[in-house]
Amino acid sequence: MPRPPLFQRATVTRIIRETADTRTFVLAPSSGPFTYRAGQFCTFRVQIDGEELLRSYSMSSAPETDTELMTTIKRVAGGRVSNWLIDNVAAGDEVEITRPFGVFCLQDNDAPLLGFCGGSGITPVISLAKSALASTKREVRLLCADRDAPSMIFEAALADLVARYPDRLTVVRHLDSDSGYLDAAAVLAFVGTDTDADVYVCGPEPFMDLVENAFPGPGKVFTERFGAAAVIAPEDDSADGADGAANAEPEVEGTVTIILRNKKISVPRRPGETFLESARRGGLAPPFSCESGTCATCIAKLVEGTATMRVNEALTEEEIEEGYVLTCQGVPDSASAVVRYE
Ligand code: FES
Repeated sequence: MPRPPLFQRATVTRIIRETADTRTFVLAPSSGPFTYRAGQFCTFRVQIDGEELLRSYSMSSAPETDTELMTTIKRVAGGRVSNWLIDNVAAGDEVEITRPFGVFCLQDNDAPLLGFCGGSGITPVISLAKSALASTKREVRLLCADRDAPSMIFEAALADLVARYPDRLTVVRHLDSDSGYLDAAAVLAFVGTDTDADVYVCGPEPFMDLVENAFPGPGKVFTERFGAAAVIAPEDDSADGADGAANAEPEVEGTVTIILRNKKISVPRRPGETFLESARRGGLAPPFSCESGTCATCIAKLVEGTATMRVNEALTEEEIEEGYVLTCQGVPDSASAVVRYE
């Protein structure tokens, strides 16, 4: 079955004030039902001061428990897209979002689920928790670390969930204002004997590193990381093309062909060069955001040849089998490779 288009319009039906700097945007996608899994995200495309910017946001709703699609966005210093959305978008406005992506999803097993959430990192984790509680018998324990009490997101929603599932859900609060930053000892104390748990971690980078390094295993750790939004440069036909590459690196046998809208370019293959890099070398400016394999904004379809992705934290096995590739991570294995952006 063909996938829906990469981007679609969605109406913001209402906006919920979660904290002083956090809002939940309730969305009604224009193409009708939006099929997603708990823990996934979509990427917003906005125009700010003439620049096209992209930023990924996790769903805070869960398909098993919420009839509405919700993303929760926190204001951040220097966060152009987040701050712009919070300051400029009102109920009734339309936004542009991608279809859902992401592999920060529940595994099909009975292991306890531990969630470590730093600040707005609670967003995908509450989605996972709602899904696990509603559709499995798994025990769920969350450690939510926040700067201070007013910063706690979903305090009431989590309290409601605890009241509904008192035997299966525990929420532990850590406030930096009371006890300083979370440390490894606190992580270990929270894990306790659940060393075989599936551990979901989302939050600021140092927080995620701390939990990943402290968790003893053998349970599996899943992380959700989003890079900063990137500026999409206008297409520049004067960029180094196939014949005009300055500082040419060694080439290997073969050709990489990129199809983007009504343009098709071919460049000689270079060892280790990603499709996105080849496209830029050929003078194209395809969409991208994180360039770290997490947002899927750079998705394209591999229509000829084979490729290997260095990192993939966005595409499902099914999408890969259908031929989709993250062009910021995909490096051709075959002499000839062709990718087509949607
Ligand atoms: S730009 Fe984000 S996955 Fe490629």
